[in-house]
Amino acid sequence: MDVQEVEKLWKQVKTLMYLIVLIVIISVVLVVKSKFSSKSTPIISDSTGIEIPFPNSLDPSNDLWTAPTTEDFKKLPADKQAAIEYGKELIAHTAKFLGPQGSIAQITNGMNCQNCHLDAGTKPYGNNYAAVFTTYPKYRARSGGIEDIYKRVEDCFERSLNGKAPARGSKELEAMVAYINYTGSNVQKGQKPKGSGIYELKFLDRAADPAKGKIAYTAKCQSCHQANGEGLMNADKVEYQYPPLWGKNAYNQGAGLYRISRFAGYIKANMPFGVTYKEPQLSDEEAWDIAAYVNSMPHPTKDISKDWPKIEEKTFDHPFGPFADGFSEEQHKFGPFGPIKKAKGKK
Ligand code: HEC
Ligand code: HEC
Repeated sequence: MDVQEVEKLWKQVKTLMYLIVLIVIISVVLVVKSKFSSKSTPIISDSTGIEIPFPNSLDPSNDLWTAPTTEDFKKLPADKQAAIEYGKELIAHTAKFLGPQGSIAQITNGMNCQNCHLDAGTKPYGNNYAAVFTTYPKYRARSGGIEDIYKRVEDCFERSLNGKAPARGSKELEAMVAYINYTGSNVQKGQKPKGSGIYELKFLDRAADPAKGKIAYTAKCQSCHQANGEGLMNADKVEYQYPPLWGKNAYNQGAGLYRISRFAGYIKANMPFGVTYKEPQLSDEEAWDIAAYVNSMPHPTKDISKDWPKIEEKTFDHPFGPFADGFSEEQHKFGPFGPIKKAKGKK
Protein backbone atom coordinates (compact mmCIF):
# COMPACT_ATOMS: atom_id res chain seq x y z
CA MET A 1 0.00 0.00 0.00
CA ASP A 2 1.41 3.38 -0.92
CA VAL A 3 0.67 6.63 0.90
CA GLN A 4 -2.16 7.61 -1.50
CA GLU A 5 -4.02 4.38 -0.94
CA VAL A 6 -3.77 4.72 2.86
CA GLU A 7 -5.19 8.27 2.69
CA LYS A 8 -8.09 7.09 0.53
CA LEU A 9 -8.94 4.29 2.93
CA TRP A 10 -8.72 6.66 5.92
CA LYS A 11 -11.20 9.02 4.20
CA GLN A 12 -13.67 6.17 3.68
CA VAL A 13 -13.39 5.09 7.32
CA LYS A 14 -14.05 8.69 8.47
CA THR A 15 -17.18 9.00 6.30
CA LEU A 16 -18.49 5.73 7.73
CA MET A 17 -17.91 6.94 11.28
CA TYR A 18 -19.76 10.21 10.59
CA LEU A 19 -22.67 8.20 9.24
CA ILE A 20 -22.79 5.98 12.33
CA VAL A 21 -22.73 8.98 14.65
CA LEU A 22 -25.55 10.61 12.67
CA ILE A 23 -27.71 7.46 12.86
CA VAL A 24 -27.16 7.20 16.61
CA ILE A 25 -28.15 10.85 17.14
CA ILE A 26 -31.32 10.48 15.05
CA SER A 27 -32.46 7.35 16.88
CA VAL A 28 -31.83 8.93 20.30
CA VAL A 29 -33.94 11.95 19.29
CA LEU A 30 -36.79 9.72 18.05
CA VAL A 31 -36.85 7.55 21.19
CA VAL A 32 -36.85 10.57 23.53
CA LYS A 33 -39.63 12.22 21.52
CA SER A 34 -41.93 9.18 21.57
CA LYS A 35 -41.37 8.70 25.32
CA PHE A 36 -42.37 12.26 26.10
CA SER A 37 -45.43 12.41 23.91
CA SER A 38 -46.92 9.18 25.31
CA LYS A 39 -46.29 10.21 28.92
CA SER A 40 -47.74 13.70 28.88
CA THR A 41 -50.80 14.25 31.11
CA PRO A 42 -54.12 14.64 29.30
CA ILE A 43 -55.08 18.27 29.01
CA ILE A 44 -58.50 19.83 28.52
CA SER A 45 -59.02 23.53 28.07
CA ASP A 46 -61.99 24.98 29.90
CA SER A 47 -64.22 27.82 28.73
CA THR A 48 -61.64 30.41 29.74
CA GLY A 49 -59.10 28.78 27.44
CA ILE A 50 -56.87 27.87 30.38
CA GLU A 51 -55.45 24.37 30.07
CA ILE A 52 -55.96 22.18 33.10
CA PRO A 53 -54.81 18.59 33.56
CA PHE A 54 -57.44 16.04 34.66
CA PRO A 55 -55.56 13.13 36.22
CA ASN A 56 -58.81 11.42 37.35
CA SER A 57 -60.80 12.10 34.23
CA LEU A 58 -62.70 9.16 32.75
CA ASP A 59 -62.24 10.62 29.29
CA PRO A 60 -59.48 13.18 28.87
CA SER A 61 -60.38 14.06 25.28
CA ASN A 62 -61.70 17.57 24.81
CA ASP A 63 -64.02 16.76 21.93
CA LEU A 64 -67.02 15.57 23.97
CA TRP A 65 -70.50 16.35 22.73
CA THR A 66 -72.31 19.41 24.05
CA ALA A 67 -75.96 20.36 23.50
CA PRO A 68 -77.02 22.97 20.92
CA THR A 69 -76.63 26.56 22.11
CA THR A 70 -79.21 29.25 22.87
CA GLU A 71 -78.25 30.98 19.61
CA ASP A 72 -79.15 27.83 17.66
CA PHE A 73 -82.44 27.67 19.53
CA LYS A 74 -83.38 31.27 18.73
CA LYS A 75 -83.08 30.55 15.01
CA LEU A 76 -86.03 28.13 15.14
CA PRO A 77 -89.62 29.14 14.27
CA ALA A 78 -91.69 30.22 17.29
CA ASP A 79 -94.04 27.20 17.32
CA LYS A 80 -91.08 24.82 17.30
CA GLN A 81 -89.45 26.75 20.13
CA ALA A 82 -92.63 26.50 22.19
CA ALA A 83 -92.92 22.71 21.70
CA ILE A 84 -89.25 22.17 22.58
CA GLU A 85 -89.54 24.30 25.71
CA TYR A 86 -92.63 22.42 26.85
CA GLY A 87 -90.87 19.12 26.15
CA LYS A 88 -87.90 20.17 28.25
CA GLU A 89 -90.20 21.18 31.12
CA LEU A 90 -91.91 17.77 30.96
CA ILE A 91 -88.56 15.98 31.06
CA ALA A 92 -87.16 18.09 33.90
CA HIS A 93 -90.35 18.08 36.02
CA THR A 94 -92.29 15.03 34.82
CA ALA A 95 -93.94 14.47 38.21
CA LYS A 96 -95.52 17.94 38.23
CA PHE A 97 -97.49 16.99 35.10
CA LEU A 98 -97.74 13.21 35.08
CA GLY A 99 -96.81 11.94 38.59
CA PRO A 100 -99.18 10.79 41.35
CA GLN A 101 -100.07 14.49 41.94
CA GLY A 102 -99.74 15.39 38.26
CA SER A 103 -101.71 18.31 36.83
CA ILE A 104 -102.42 16.57 33.49
CA ALA A 105 -102.61 12.85 34.31
CA GLN A 106 -101.53 10.52 37.11
CA ILE A 107 -99.69 7.83 35.21
CA THR A 108 -96.14 7.55 36.66
CA ASN A 109 -94.23 6.79 39.87
CA GLY A 110 -93.32 10.39 40.75
CA MET A 111 -89.82 10.37 39.28
CA ASN A 112 -88.65 12.88 36.68
CA CYS A 113 -86.94 11.84 33.45
CA GLN A 114 -84.20 14.25 34.52
CA ASN A 115 -83.49 12.22 37.67
CA CYS A 116 -81.66 9.81 35.34
CA HIS A 117 -81.15 11.94 32.20
CA LEU A 118 -79.24 14.69 33.99
CA ASP A 119 -79.55 18.36 33.06
CA ALA A 120 -82.57 17.37 30.94
CA GLY A 121 -80.44 14.92 28.98
CA THR A 122 -77.54 17.24 28.13
CA LYS A 123 -74.80 16.29 30.60
CA PRO A 124 -71.76 14.48 29.13
CA TYR A 125 -71.92 10.83 30.30
CA GLY A 126 -75.03 11.85 32.27
CA ASN A 127 -77.26 9.45 30.26
CA ASN A 128 -77.88 12.25 27.76
CA TYR A 129 -79.88 12.27 24.54
CA ALA A 130 -76.97 13.03 22.18
CA ALA A 131 -77.35 9.85 20.13
CA VAL A 132 -81.14 9.43 20.04
CA PHE A 133 -82.20 11.55 17.06
CA THR A 134 -79.24 10.26 15.05
CA THR A 135 -79.55 6.52 15.72
CA TYR A 136 -83.33 5.86 15.88
CA PRO A 137 -85.27 4.13 14.44
CA LYS A 138 -83.06 1.13 15.14
CA TYR A 139 -83.22 -2.58 15.87
CA ARG A 140 -83.30 -3.35 19.59
CA ALA A 141 -82.76 -6.88 20.81
CA ARG A 142 -84.87 -6.27 23.94
CA SER A 143 -88.05 -5.95 21.87
CA GLY A 144 -86.72 -7.89 18.89
CA GLY A 145 -87.92 -5.22 16.47
CA ILE A 146 -87.26 -1.81 14.99
CA GLU A 147 -88.00 0.93 17.55
CA ASP A 148 -88.61 4.58 16.83
CA ILE A 149 -88.09 7.40 19.33
CA TYR A 150 -91.74 7.26 20.48
CA LYS A 151 -91.41 3.59 21.37
CA ARG A 152 -88.15 4.27 23.22
CA VAL A 153 -89.73 7.07 25.26
CA GLU A 154 -92.73 4.82 26.05
CA ASP A 155 -90.25 2.18 27.26
CA CYS A 156 -88.85 4.55 29.89
CA PHE A 157 -92.37 5.54 30.98
CA GLU A 158 -93.34 1.88 31.44
CA ARG A 159 -90.09 0.76 33.08
CA SER A 160 -88.07 3.59 34.63
CA LEU A 161 -91.21 5.49 35.60
CA ASN A 162 -93.09 2.23 36.21
CA GLY A 163 -96.26 3.64 34.65
CA LYS A 164 -97.83 4.54 31.34
CA ALA A 165 -96.83 6.94 28.57
CA PRO A 166 -99.10 9.76 27.38
CA ALA A 167 -101.03 8.71 24.26
CA ARG A 168 -99.52 8.91 20.79
CA GLY A 169 -100.42 12.24 19.23
CA SER A 170 -100.86 13.92 22.63
CA LYS A 171 -99.29 17.35 23.02
CA GLU A 172 -97.09 15.98 25.81
CA LEU A 173 -95.53 13.03 23.97
CA GLU A 174 -95.00 15.16 20.85
CA ALA A 175 -93.27 17.88 22.87
CA MET A 176 -90.94 15.44 24.63
CA VAL A 177 -89.92 13.86 21.34
CA ALA A 178 -89.45 17.33 19.79
CA TYR A 179 -87.13 18.25 22.65
CA ILE A 180 -85.14 14.99 22.45
CA ASN A 181 -84.77 15.38 18.67
CA TYR A 182 -83.63 18.96 19.06
CA THR A 183 -81.08 18.01 21.74
CA GLY A 184 -79.32 15.64 19.33
CA SER A 185 -79.80 17.80 16.25
CA ASN A 186 -76.16 18.94 16.16
CA VAL A 187 -74.92 15.36 15.63
CA GLN A 188 -74.54 13.78 12.20
CA LYS A 189 -77.04 11.06 11.30
CA GLY A 190 -75.84 7.63 12.37
CA GLN A 191 -73.15 8.99 14.71
CA LYS A 192 -72.73 8.35 18.41
CA PRO A 193 -70.57 11.21 19.69
CA LYS A 194 -68.06 10.91 22.52
CA GLY A 195 -69.66 11.60 25.88
CA SER A 196 -73.10 10.37 24.76
CA GLY A 197 -75.29 8.14 26.91
CA ILE A 198 -73.74 6.27 29.83
CA TYR A 199 -70.04 5.76 30.55
CA GLU A 200 -68.91 2.20 29.77
CA LEU A 201 -67.12 1.05 32.91
CA LYS A 202 -64.37 -1.60 32.74
CA PHE A 203 -65.42 -5.03 34.02
CA LEU A 204 -64.14 -6.33 37.35
CA ASP A 205 -62.50 -9.74 37.21
CA ARG A 206 -64.70 -10.85 40.09
CA ALA A 207 -68.44 -10.83 40.72
CA ALA A 208 -69.84 -7.55 42.06
CA ASP A 209 -70.48 -7.89 45.80
CA PRO A 210 -73.74 -6.56 47.34
CA ALA A 211 -72.33 -6.81 50.89
CA LYS A 212 -69.41 -4.51 50.03
CA GLY A 213 -71.86 -2.33 48.12
CA LYS A 214 -74.01 -1.88 51.20
CA ILE A 215 -71.06 -0.50 53.15
CA ALA A 216 -70.19 1.95 50.37
CA TYR A 217 -73.87 2.91 49.98
CA THR A 218 -74.12 3.76 53.67
CA ALA A 219 -71.04 5.96 53.46
CA LYS A 220 -71.67 7.73 50.15
CA CYS A 221 -75.32 7.60 49.10
CA GLN A 222 -77.53 7.18 52.13
CA SER A 223 -77.38 10.83 53.25
CA CYS A 224 -79.55 11.74 50.25
CA HIS A 225 -81.25 8.58 49.02
CA GLN A 226 -81.98 7.47 52.63
CA ALA A 227 -81.32 4.25 54.52
CA ASN A 228 -84.51 2.68 53.14
CA GLY A 229 -83.48 3.67 49.58
CA GLU A 230 -86.83 5.34 49.00
CA GLY A 231 -85.49 8.86 48.63
CA LEU A 232 -87.03 12.05 49.99
CA MET A 233 -89.83 14.20 48.59
CA ASN A 234 -89.79 17.97 48.32
CA ALA A 235 -91.85 19.89 50.85
CA ASP A 236 -94.59 20.21 48.18
CA LYS A 237 -94.89 16.38 48.03
CA VAL A 238 -95.09 16.53 44.23
CA GLU A 239 -91.50 15.99 43.11
CA TYR A 240 -88.55 14.25 44.72
CA GLN A 241 -85.65 16.16 46.17
CA TYR A 242 -83.72 12.86 46.24
CA PRO A 243 -85.30 10.22 44.00
CA PRO A 244 -85.83 6.61 45.15
CA LEU A 245 -83.34 3.85 44.26
CA TRP A 246 -85.54 0.97 45.34
CA GLY A 247 -88.97 0.39 46.88
CA LYS A 248 -92.44 0.88 45.41
CA ASN A 249 -91.73 4.21 43.68
CA ALA A 250 -88.43 3.23 42.05
CA TYR A 251 -87.69 1.96 38.53
CA ASN A 252 -88.99 -1.55 37.88
CA GLN A 253 -87.18 -4.79 37.09
CA GLY A 254 -87.54 -4.23 33.35
CA ALA A 255 -85.72 -0.87 33.45
CA GLY A 256 -82.27 -0.11 32.07
CA LEU A 257 -80.84 0.71 35.51
CA TYR A 258 -81.82 -2.75 36.72
CA ARG A 259 -78.84 -3.99 34.66
CA ILE A 260 -75.83 -3.40 36.85
CA SER A 261 -73.55 -2.23 34.00
CA ARG A 262 -75.97 0.66 33.30
CA PHE A 263 -76.24 1.53 37.00
CA ALA A 264 -72.49 1.32 37.67
CA GLY A 265 -71.56 3.42 34.62
CA TYR A 266 -74.20 6.00 35.48
CA ILE A 267 -73.12 6.49 39.10
CA LYS A 268 -69.38 6.39 38.34
CA ALA A 269 -69.65 9.57 36.26
CA ASN A 270 -72.47 11.31 38.18
CA MET A 271 -72.84 10.31 41.83
CA PRO A 272 -72.61 11.40 44.61
CA PHE A 273 -74.69 14.16 43.03
CA GLY A 274 -72.51 16.97 41.69
CA VAL A 275 -69.55 14.94 40.42
CA THR A 276 -68.76 14.80 36.72
CA TYR A 277 -66.82 12.39 34.52
CA LYS A 278 -63.88 14.74 34.96
CA GLU A 279 -63.42 13.98 38.62
CA PRO A 280 -65.29 10.86 39.67
CA GLN A 281 -65.38 10.00 43.36
CA LEU A 282 -66.23 6.31 43.26
CA SER A 283 -63.67 3.65 42.46
CA ASP A 284 -64.72 1.14 39.78
CA GLU A 285 -65.13 -1.48 42.51
CA GLU A 286 -67.40 0.76 44.58
CA ALA A 287 -69.53 1.57 41.53
CA TRP A 288 -70.05 -2.12 40.62
CA ASP A 289 -70.61 -3.21 44.24
CA ILE A 290 -73.15 -0.45 44.95
CA ALA A 291 -74.97 -1.36 41.72
CA ALA A 292 -75.13 -4.98 42.91
CA TYR A 293 -76.45 -3.89 46.30
CA VAL A 294 -79.14 -1.51 45.01
CA ASN A 295 -80.36 -4.02 42.43
CA SER A 296 -80.55 -6.73 45.10
CA MET A 297 -83.11 -4.65 46.97
CA PRO A 298 -86.82 -4.86 46.07
CA HIS A 299 -88.04 -3.18 42.86
CA PRO A 300 -91.51 -3.17 41.34
CA THR A 301 -92.01 -6.11 38.99
CA LYS A 302 -93.12 -5.97 35.38
CA ASP A 303 -94.19 -8.69 33.00
CA ILE A 304 -91.13 -8.88 30.79
CA SER A 305 -91.80 -12.36 29.42
CA LYS A 306 -92.04 -10.91 25.90
CA ASP A 307 -88.65 -9.16 26.16
CA TRP A 308 -85.63 -10.59 24.35
CA PRO A 309 -87.61 -12.82 21.98
CA LYS A 310 -84.29 -14.19 20.69
CA ILE A 311 -82.60 -15.36 23.89
CA GLU A 312 -79.21 -15.63 22.20
CA GLU A 313 -79.35 -11.83 21.80
CA LYS A 314 -79.79 -11.19 25.55
CA THR A 315 -77.24 -8.70 26.78
CA PHE A 316 -74.52 -10.05 29.10
CA ASP A 317 -76.01 -8.47 32.23
CA HIS A 318 -79.72 -9.12 31.69
CA PRO A 319 -80.47 -10.62 35.10
CA PHE A 320 -83.22 -13.08 34.15
CA GLY A 321 -82.96 -16.46 32.41
CA PRO A 322 -83.34 -18.51 30.32
CA PHE A 323 -80.00 -17.93 28.60
CA ALA A 324 -78.56 -19.42 25.43
CA ASP A 325 -75.11 -19.75 27.03
CA GLY A 326 -74.16 -22.00 29.95
CA PHE A 327 -73.73 -19.22 32.52
CA SER A 328 -75.98 -18.99 35.59
CA GLU A 329 -78.56 -16.31 36.31
CA GLU A 330 -76.38 -15.28 39.26
CA GLN A 331 -73.39 -14.66 36.99
CA HIS A 332 -75.52 -12.75 34.48
CA LYS A 333 -76.69 -10.51 37.31
CA PHE A 334 -73.44 -9.87 39.19
CA GLY A 335 -70.60 -11.06 36.93
CA PRO A 336 -67.78 -11.74 36.41
CA PHE A 337 -68.86 -10.64 32.93
CA GLY A 338 -65.55 -11.12 31.11
CA PRO A 339 -66.10 -14.86 30.49
CA ILE A 340 -69.69 -14.26 29.30
CA LYS A 341 -68.58 -11.66 26.77
CA LYS A 342 -65.66 -13.84 25.68
CA ALA A 343 -67.92 -16.87 25.08
CA LYS A 344 -70.29 -14.66 23.08
CA GLY A 345 -67.43 -13.35 20.95
CA LYS A 346 -66.45 -16.90 19.97
CA LYS A 347 -69.81 -17.71 18.38
C1 HEC B 1 -84.67 5.46 36.54
C2 HEC B 1 -83.88 6.08 35.53
C3 HEC B 1 -84.55 6.60 34.27
C4 HEC B 1 -85.63 7.44 34.17
C5 HEC B 1 -86.42 8.06 35.29
C6 HEC B 1 -85.86 7.65 32.76
N1 HEC B 1 -84.92 6.96 32.03
FE1 HEC B 1 -84.72 7.00 30.00
N2 HEC B 1 -83.17 5.68 30.15
C7 HEC B 1 -82.65 5.17 31.31
C8 HEC B 1 -81.60 4.22 31.00
C9 HEC B 1 -80.77 3.45 32.01
C10 HEC B 1 -81.51 4.16 29.60
C11 HEC B 1 -80.59 3.28 28.76
C12 HEC B 1 -79.29 3.97 28.49
C13 HEC B 1 -78.25 3.05 27.88
O1 HEC B 1 -78.42 1.83 27.90
O2 HEC B 1 -77.24 3.58 27.41
C14 HEC B 1 -82.53 5.10 29.09
C15 HEC B 1 -82.73 5.36 27.74
C16 HEC B 1 -83.57 6.33 27.25
C17 HEC B 1 -83.64 6.73 25.86
C18 HEC B 1 -82.76 6.15 24.74
C19 HEC B 1 -81.38 6.69 24.82
C20 HEC B 1 -80.43 6.17 23.78
O3 HEC B 1 -79.37 6.81 23.59
O4 HEC B 1 -80.71 5.14 23.15
C21 HEC B 1 -84.59 7.70 25.76
C22 HEC B 1 -85.02 8.44 24.52
C23 HEC B 1 -85.12 7.90 27.10
N3 HEC B 1 -84.47 7.07 27.97
C24 HEC B 1 -86.12 8.81 27.43
C25 HEC B 1 -86.65 8.95 28.71
C26 HEC B 1 -87.77 9.80 29.02
C27 HEC B 1 -88.50 10.68 28.04
C28 HEC B 1 -88.01 9.66 30.36
C29 HEC B 1 -89.11 10.25 31.18
C30 HEC B 1 -90.45 9.95 30.71
C31 HEC B 1 -87.00 8.75 30.88
N4 HEC B 1 -86.22 8.34 29.85
C32 HEC B 1 -86.87 8.42 32.22
C33 HEC B 1 -83.04 5.51 32.59
C34 HEC B 1 -84.10 6.31 32.92
C1 HEC C 1 -76.00 15.05 47.73
C2 HEC C 1 -77.13 14.17 47.54
C3 HEC C 1 -76.87 12.88 46.77
C4 HEC C 1 -75.94 11.90 47.04
C5 HEC C 1 -74.93 11.87 48.18
C6 HEC C 1 -76.16 10.86 46.06
N1 HEC C 1 -77.16 11.22 45.21
FE1 HEC C 1 -77.93 10.10 43.70
N2 HEC C 1 -79.15 11.60 43.18
C7 HEC C 1 -79.27 12.81 43.86
C8 HEC C 1 -80.19 13.67 43.13
C9 HEC C 1 -80.59 15.08 43.54
C10 HEC C 1 -80.61 12.95 42.00
C11 HEC C 1 -81.55 13.45 40.91
C12 HEC C 1 -80.82 14.40 39.98
C13 HEC C 1 -81.71 15.29 39.17
O1 HEC C 1 -82.93 15.11 39.15
O2 HEC C 1 -81.16 16.21 38.55
C14 HEC C 1 -79.96 11.64 42.08
C15 HEC C 1 -80.16 10.62 41.17
C16 HEC C 1 -79.66 9.34 41.31
C17 HEC C 1 -79.98 8.22 40.45
C18 HEC C 1 -80.97 8.19 39.29
C19 HEC C 1 -82.39 8.34 39.75
C20 HEC C 1 -82.91 7.19 40.58
O3 HEC C 1 -83.40 7.47 41.68
O4 HEC C 1 -82.87 6.03 40.14
C21 HEC C 1 -79.26 7.16 40.90
C22 HEC C 1 -79.27 5.75 40.35
C23 HEC C 1 -78.46 7.61 42.01
N3 HEC C 1 -78.73 8.94 42.23
C24 HEC C 1 -77.60 6.82 42.73
C25 HEC C 1 -76.76 7.30 43.73
C26 HEC C 1 -75.75 6.50 44.38
C27 HEC C 1 -75.49 5.04 44.13
C28 HEC C 1 -75.10 7.32 45.26
C29 HEC C 1 -73.91 7.00 46.14
C30 HEC C 1 -72.71 6.65 45.44
C31 HEC C 1 -75.76 8.62 45.21
N4 HEC C 1 -76.74 8.57 44.26
C32 HEC C 1 -75.42 9.69 46.00
C33 HEC C 1 -78.64 13.16 45.01
C34 HEC C 1 -77.63 12.44 45.61
